[in-house]
Formats: sequence, structure tokens, C-alpha cells
Amino acid sequence: MADPRVKLLKSIPLFAACDDKQLAFISTQVDEVDFDTGRDLCREGGSGGEFFVILSGTAEVRRQGRRLGELTAGDFFGEIALLDGGPRTATVTAVSPMKCVVLSRGQFHNVIRQNALIAVSVLETLGERLRTLLVGQPT
Ligand code: CMP
Repeated sequence: MADPRVKLLKSIPLFAACDDKQLAFISTQVDEVDFDTGRDLCREGGSGGEFFVILSGTAEVRRQGRRLGELTAGDFFGEIALLDGGPRTATVTAVSPMKCVVLSRGQFHNVIRQNALIAVSVLETLGERLRTLLVGQPT
């Protein structure tokens, strides 16, 4: 019978292109964590320790009081501070009970080093987020 953690990872779009061997490796790198409504999972300006992929629930993203968007099942966040080592660019708050797959900095780096398709997906989303962050900024 398929490993339930591998089955779970297969259902997440970010990991959809991975084969079972890659998913088996990723399953050794992740934890499943529940968060209550109102919990800040990332705090703007704070240091970044983890990368999150949402399994269920909704989070709101805010920066300098401006609402940047909402993240739901299948979305991920927390990649920016883990990639560049800088502070969190936004505050991400659970607006419902949430279940997430969580990777520490080291686990996140292990996974993207092992899988170019995941790294490219993260970069594509990063590009979109950069454009949202630049709205209203002088160019
Ligand atoms: P990081 O800066 O590590 O912590 C805050 C996270 O919010 C950030 O990574 C992104 O994952 C996420 N984020 C930043 N900007 C946006 C945006 N415009 N839309 C959605 N998520 C964002």
C-alpha cells in the first residue's frame, strides 16, 4: 500500500510533478502542523525559519497595513526569507483553522536542491509576488 505521506504530497500542486522516489524523499523532510485562527505564521520584518504549504484553511497576507491577498489549499508561502536569508516581507495570518506541510530552512533547501521543477515553481510564484510588492513603488 502507498505511504500515506507520499499520497498526501502527491495531492499538492507544488509536488505534483515529482515521482514516487522524489516524494518519498520529500516525505522525510516535512511535518504536518495545525494552526488556529488568528495565528501569525510569518511576521513582516521578523526572521524566517520555515516554508509552508497549505493543506486546508485560509491565510491572509499583509504588508505595511496593505492586504496583498489570500492563500488557500495548495498555495505556499515563506519562501522569500528562506531563499535570501533576509527578513519576512509580509505578515501571513491564519483566518481560519489551517493545516500545513511545514519545512524548516534546511529541509526546504534540501528539497529544492533535489528537484529543479519545484525550484522553478517557487521562482515563478516569487516573480508574481515581486510584482504585487512593487505596485505603488517608484520604478
Ligand atoms: P517571506 O517574505 O519569507 O514571508 C512572508 C511571505 O508572504 C513571503 O515570504 C511570501 O511567501 C508571502 N508573500 C509575499 N508577498 C506576497 C504576495 N504579494 N502574495 C502572496 N503571498 C505573498
